Amino acid sequence: MTRAVPERSASLHADPGAPRHIAIIMDGNGRWANERGLPRLAGHRAGADNLQRVLQTLDSAGVEFVTLFAFSTENWNRPTSEVNGLLDLMQSVIGECVDELHKRNVCIRHLGELDQIPASLADATREAVKRTASNTGMNLCVAFDYGGRTEIVRAVRRVIAAGVAPHDITEDLIRENLYLPDVPDPDLIIRTAGEQRLSNFLIWQAAYSEYYQTPAYWPDFDDVEVERALNEYKRRRRRFGALPEED
Ligand code: IPE
Ligand code: IPE
Ligand code: MG
Repeated sequence: MTRAVPERSASLHADPGAPRHIAIIMDGNGRWANERGLPRLAGHRAGADNLQRVLQTLDSAGVEFVTLFAFSTENWNRPTSEVNGLLDLMQSVIGECVDELHKRNVCIRHLGELDQIPASLADATREAVKRTASNTGMNLCVAFDYGGRTEIVRAVRRVIAAGVAPHDITEDLIRENLYLPDVPDPDLIIRTAGEQRLSNFLIWQAAYSEYYQTPAYWPDFDDVEVERALNEYKRRRRRFGALPEED
């Protein structure tokens, strides 16, 4: 059973020009730390400390879905000490943030795999998702051990396992078998720290997303940066392959 993509809720929508779903590639923690002569993990900690303020600002702006890229399937290729540091940090962030998010009516979701990460982190993730599942506020989707190609392969496998004939495989069927089928495609994908690539993030869902990058490192991505991104989004004209509407 999959849930249909929900209609936009008018009461939640503070700014009619705001994107409904923003996905963020939180990049540049390592460079932020390097520039200060600090270990890379200090940059990741500073990045984690930036989460609540950005989420609150997006919530106030009426954004209904926020997806955060926290750990990619390719990030396993980093040195073991950094991988372990990131896993420990994720565990701490869950401990520090879930009460507050729950109080703010945020519904926490996870996309990615849970079977390769330590059992304690997988359990904490499942618990956070379960605890906030009936919250009706902003959806916070955390991409952890997430890769877009893995997601698509998984979807195809599920379709085949269900016995679907090749000519019955449709885009809708693939979508229904993604990790979070009820979450609409991102309207805006923000990448901090200047790189201009998706790095295997939401590659199915990003087909018609607007892309925005800023040179700011993730720990420095503050309210002014959020506002710049939202203003830039308002200036974009989305055509989805059709011709622009006449004024
Ligand atoms: C992003 O920061 C966080 C993760 C990928 C987990 P980086 O660690 O990639 O920072 P840079 O790109 O090295 O500056
Ligand atoms: C993308 O950043 C992954 C996350 C932000 C979690 P990376 O720093 O891993 O991406 P590349 O290696 O520069 O493409
Ligand atoms: Mg990086």
